[in-house]
Amino acid sequence: MKIERDFHMTKGDGETSYAGNSRIQRRAIRLTVPMVEKAIRELSMDLHPQSMVIADLGCSSGPNTLLFISTAIAAICENLANTTIESPMDAQFFLNDLPGNDFNQIFQSLEQFEQSIAQNCSHKGLQPPPHYIVGVPGSFYTRLFPCNSVHLFHSSFSLMWLSQVPEHLDGNMNEGNIHIGETTPLSVAKLYQDQFEKDFSRFLRMRCKELVPGGHMVLTVLGRKSNDMFHAGGMTTAFELLSKALHALVAKGNVEKRELDSFNVPIYLPSAHELRQLVQKNELLDIGDIHIISTSWNPIDDDSGLAVDGAAAAQAAGKSISATLRAVMESLIVSHFRESIVDELFAVFAHNITNHIENEIEKSSLTVISLSLQARQ
Ligand SMILES: C[S@@+](CC[C@H](N)C(=O)[O-])C[C@H]1O[C@@H](n2cnc3c(N)ncnc32)[C@H](O)[C@@H]1O
Repeated sequence: MKIERDFHMTKGDGETSYAGNSRIQRRAIRLTVPMVEKAIRELSMDLHPQSMVIADLGCSSGPNTLLFISTAIAAICENLANTTIESPMDAQFFLNDLPGNDFNQIFQSLEQFEQSIAQNCSHKGLQPPPHYIVGVPGSFYTRLFPCNSVHLFHSSFSLMWLSQVPEHLDGNMNEGNIHIGETTPLSVAKLYQDQFEKDFSRFLRMRCKELVPGGHMVLTVLGRKSNDMFHAGGMTTAFELLSKALHALVAKGNVEKRELDSFNVPIYLPSAHELRQLVQKNELLDIGDIHIISTSWNPIDDDSGLAVDGAAAAQAAGKSISATLRAVMESLIVSHFRESIVDELFAVFAHNITNHIENEIEKSSLTVISLSLQARQ
């Protein structure tokens, strides 16, 4: 499995697509709107660029990609309305993701998007700034932009994905687990941690070259609250239940045990402490804010506002959480196992989650960590 070649969110806007199954990620983008607005306000005041260059790294496709762009345009618009600058600022958006991302879905939705932007601004008596949207395929663990060229980097729910399965994690070293599970050896957990440190440090180094002096970054990752790598809560529980679903397929003879043992999800959920230490080690960035937010792992929660209660609600949550993880992981499952197991795997996984929710004493939640950083001048 090669991440750069094989990894992509499920394409299009069908039933199993990422576009249709990414409400949890959308909730995180909404939560960080004030951080993005603040960064744009400070950039406008301090650097007053004629063209604001903004890049979204790991943009994926669907409503979340557009939500970030519309948030930034609205913030620029409000700023322009509150200042007396003679020549209005324009904005250039670079949307980055791996080459397998469904960039066409984004570009095909832009015409409608532009109409809604114009309407939103005119409701407030404002005009959207001239803006230009470009796709940038490539890994954010490589250089993507010229030196000193970007004012604001944004990335949401992407940087916990590693550049590769941890180096030296081979064969059945993590037997029976697909991530850092209860029975994972400490040495394997350390390999995950080392890979994250290497990747995140490289990411910061690359971006520091590309940011203009005084430029900003707003980075949001799925992380963990405690320093304990083995008990990260929501997402770790989800991987344990997916692993259990794979074990069920092994028991039925639909997956081979050695296929399960050699499957390791290339993701690491850092703590705020680890992130802070890595930023400090970089020495070129100042930390503005760090927000740690707990949010429900159930995508339906944000609509109803109600806690999951009762068998029917637990079943709906199981289906919904399973659809969310499938939209993210389907390409990895297909490349390591095969397409024919996907429907069954995620049906068993949905069932496992429903059971877990029905029996849990404490409600599972995800930890979302947002960092606001500024390049030193
Ligand atoms: C869960 S999605 C989040 C997408 C979007 N930002 C959102 O909030 O809905 C993670 C995205 O990160 C992208 N990604 C993962 N590793 C990447 C890398 N090394 N370079 C660029 N994009 C990457 C994936 O392809 C995927 O589209």
